[in-house]
Amino acid sequence: MASAPPCAVVIFGASGDLAKRKLIPAIYDLVCEGLCDERSYFVGFSRSAMSDEEFRKEWRRGIEKFARSRPVDEGVWKRLEGRIYYAQADYGSCADYARVGKMLGELDEKHGVGGNRMYYLATPPEQFPVIIDELLPLHSEARGALRRIVIEKPFGRDLGSARGLNERLHRSFVEEQVYRIDHFLGKETVQNLMVMRFANSVFEPIWNTKYVDHVQITVAESLGVEGRGGYYDGAGALRDIVQNHLFQLMALAAMEPPVSLDAGSIRDEKVKVYRSIRGLRGAGVDDWAVRGQYGAGEWNGRKTEGYRSEKGVAGDSRTETFAAIKLFIDNWRWSGTPFYLRTGKMMAQKASEVVVRFRSPPQALFQKQCETPVYPNDLVIRVQPDEGISWRLNGKVPGGQLSIKPVALDFLYKTTFQKEPPDAYERLIHDAMAGDQTLFIRADEVEAAWAVIDPIEKAWAESKDGVEEYRPGSWGPKGAMLLIELDGRRWMHSSESPEPIIACSL
Ligand SMILES: NC(=O)c1ccc[n+]([C@@H]2O[C@H](COP(=O)([O-])OP(=O)(O)OC[C@H]3O[C@@H](n4cnc5c(N)ncnc54)[C@H](OP(=O)(O)O)[C@@H]3O)[C@@H](O)[C@H]2O)c1
Repeated sequence: MASAPPCAVVIFGASGDLAKRKLIPAIYDLVCEGLCDERSYFVGFSRSAMSDEEFRKEWRRGIEKFARSRPVDEGVWKRLEGRIYYAQADYGSCADYARVGKMLGELDEKHGVGGNRMYYLATPPEQFPVIIDELLPLHSEARGALRRIVIEKPFGRDLGSARGLNERLHRSFVEEQVYRIDHFLGKETVQNLMVMRFANSVFEPIWNTKYVDHVQITVAESLGVEGRGGYYDGAGALRDIVQNHLFQLMALAAMEPPVSLDAGSIRDEKVKVYRSIRGLRGAGVDDWAVRGQYGAGEWNGRKTEGYRSEKGVAGDSRTETFAAIKLFIDNWRWSGTPFYLRTGKMMAQKASEVVVRFRSPPQALFQKQCETPVYPNDLVIRVQPDEGISWRLNGKVPGGQLSIKPVALDFLYKTTFQKEPPDAYERLIHDAMAGDQTLFIRADEVEAAWAVIDPIEKAWAESKDGVEEYRPGSWGPKGAMLLIELDGRRWMHSSESPEPIIACSL
């Protein structure tokens, strides 16, 4: 990757958790890698009272704790420190924007960024519309100055609000200046999904309903809401994870080969996937979508009184902390192949992965001799942890008896490339600075995804049924098991103990 052009990066919500844990360390790592122009400067924009000096100390603490390159390189820090500024300001105050706009103008002169701007919205989403409407005075009128806006998730809470936010954005920015983040897209393994599919000729001929029995995608978290109950209770698992992370993984796994690798071509194909999803409506939702809420129990060495007792959560909350859905993509490639998606909090393990299960061999050559079936092949793409890919095949166990055991051909990022993949935010911040929109979500893409989710949310909101409780440390409610098991399939997980050796007598 080449160094991005110089710019002023204005971080809204700079005093927050995301800034400290992800954005600041990622910027530092980019500077270490020589990928951030040495003229770029950074301005925190938040309500908290802080001086430049105090804000710089915050950066230093964030870097010391969360940066990939540690310990801190004092030379790099010295070069970066003098380019960090803070503006205490209110998100809705015209006067504050005018003041900060003036400050940026002076800093532009000092650092020579030519009026280029990158606004990063890292506040709670309720503030997004206010900031978008007010930030005009921060623009530079310098000729040829670049202007970009990066927006954190969630982008809206349904189709209507996402459309409203898009319209608002498009009053001040053209779509080519808008960078909607889903940090999953910044992960190496997610990008590798496309490389694996389209840079290897072995997959394309079998990547369709004729050879693939089903696809399952899991994003499981082992923690609960961790103090974010106030936000989470108004969102739930479907909005928080399915509409974005799970749908992105599904789109990359299911899309047609793009005509080229430019942002437009890739995003065109993803939109087509969302538009091909068979709509779930009304009563049918119960057969295809399951929700759950974690109850009281003990997990990860901690006792929990259950989701409804979390801080900020209503005592009678019906918000789901688990969601599983079965979807069909009604196009030529996938017609008839189910995609099972699930996500949950307080699950048995933190894991994000895509499992492609292929159909069993058509000829019952070995099946005839075995009491249990010969297992079909699986391709497991692990997004986290242990980023990598496993190809599960059947092999003969050495010995006179014919015994078959599933074996795995494993590609593990860490051991193959001898280094940890860079953090997703590093890649995304660099790409936004460099003007590459490939790993960001386009307006029509986000709306197409909400169009699938809205009817499920509506049916759940209108349903009189309660939300099924599940035990912390489990894999979710019983309904989620039934969703897949009634189809004669089961959820799989790469860390499960391998399938038993199958002994065949000839
Ligand atoms: N944290 C993560 O790991 C994570 C991951 C993915 C996406 N995100 C998204 O990134 C954004 C920021 O997340 P975060 O965890 O950093 O949020 P946060 O810590 O709750 O908020 C960031 C900053 O926004 C300001 N703020 C908080 N509540 C506000 C309110 N009600 N009204 C006005 N300003 C408020 C605060 O700064 P001042 O009071 O100083 O103004 C706060 O320091 C959110 O949209 C979130 O969904 C976060």
